[in-house]
Amino acid sequence: MDKILVHGGHPLSGTVKIGGSKNSALPILAATLLTKEPCVIRHVPDLSDIHYMLQILSHLGAQVERASGVVTVTAEKIDTVAPYDIVRKMRASVCVLGPLLGREKEATVSLPGGCVIGDRPIDLHLKGFAGLGASHRIAQGNVKVFAGELKGGLVSLRGKQGPTVLGTDNVMMAATLADGVTVIDNAAAEPEVVDLANFLNAMGAKIEGAGTRRIIIEGVKELHGAEHEVIPDRIEAGTFMVAAAVAGEKVTLQRVDPGHLDAVSDRLQEAGYKIDVAKDSLTVHGNGVTNCTQITTEPYPGFPTDMQAQMCALLSKGKGVSVITETVFPQRYMHVSELKRMGANIELDGATATVTGVEHLSGAPVMASDLRASAALVLAGLHADGVTEVSRVYHIDRGYECIDEKLNSLGAQIERVKVKG
Ligand code: EPZ
Repeated sequence: MDKILVHGGHPLSGTVKIGGSKNSALPILAATLLTKEPCVIRHVPDLSDIHYMLQILSHLGAQVERASGVVTVTAEKIDTVAPYDIVRKMRASVCVLGPLLGREKEATVSLPGGCVIGDRPIDLHLKGFAGLGASHRIAQGNVKVFAGELKGGLVSLRGKQGPTVLGTDNVMMAATLADGVTVIDNAAAEPEVVDLANFLNAMGAKIEGAGTRRIIIEGVKELHGAEHEVIPDRIEAGTFMVAAAVAGEKVTLQRVDPGHLDAVSDRLQEAGYKIDVAKDSLTVHGNGVTNCTQITTEPYPGFPTDMQAQMCALLSKGKGVSVITETVFPQRYMHVSELKRMGANIELDGATATVTGVEHLSGAPVMASDLRASAALVLAGLHADGVTEVSRVYHIDRGYECIDEKLNSLGAQIERVKVKG
């Protein structure tokens, strides 16, 4: 098990290239189960979560080849039961339900367990499948969805916290092979949903409206193989934008889609940072002084919940009082107690964090609890005095490819050390 030592106070400058999107690649890899023919997916990031998805595909009988960011999957003959011992490692495994149900009219996946970022039920996924005529049974910790045939229908995927991303993906994938037309109302509109729809259409699906709250899918008899390049990871990009704000002089991000980062750019500009945007790159100019700002996380195109922790780390050292309201995962504040160990002044009241900027943060041993919280602790270490020791960094490797090497290439002083035992 590794830990990361972040030596604070080293200014960042230069250029960093952003990788393929984890949250796009995962459902796209699952979608390859919808056809017997080979699918070639490019720009797949080298992350442990991707590794788990490829393990599941292999376990289901697909042939999987992988070489430097290019994954080829051929799911000629497949099984329909995804095993607990892999699924328990990654919640996103739930997105094999839709393709298996679409193709084989049945699928069994172990129910996702508890999650530190908050309640994560799959009731909307199951409600969506029911809209296509599928039933489900929960037994021995597994959920089995099944249908004699799938028929297109009208489904609404809005829950208490708004639309569901993977729920939209799952229903969209199942509906591609249903008989007739499906309309998904209150659909998630994240760029990753659009990227999946583009891949499915390249396979011969008939999907319109992805990226809006209303997606229309006309079912087809079968899908064929296709090639696809995954979009850039907007959350990795957002994390490096905050790194530039935390400790940067001038940092340029290459291979990004700036349009996917409007909400993040708006908040950083309000906090006093100048951002230059080009076609597929953007530059953040650090100025060392962070002004306070108000943030409310929302489904896309609102401010992403996956950037909330990183902004907490930035606003902890700055001027004034910022108020952050987390509406998507109201309990998603595991990073706060660790930032307070570094001297941050943050008051939590339910889903709201009040961050009073302080002049100094001090390095300390801190514990990562989930993917984005671990990124926030590394960012806080960049502008803390002394050394911040982040343990359980396996969380960070789930969603960031070589984040320490990339930050060091910009001038940071970060070491990764092995912990015995
Ligand atoms: C996706 O998770 C992302 N994961 C998450 O990123 C991201 O935080 C989340 O969307 C929101 O943007 C992947 O794409 C692999 P949701 P997902 O279903 O689809 C409630 C990261 O850091 N809900 O959109 O699982 C749910 O509890 C990860 O990369 C129901 O009530 O999230 C939450 O409050 C973390 N019933 C809200 O909806 C359901 O059936 C949004 O969850 C499903 C969800």
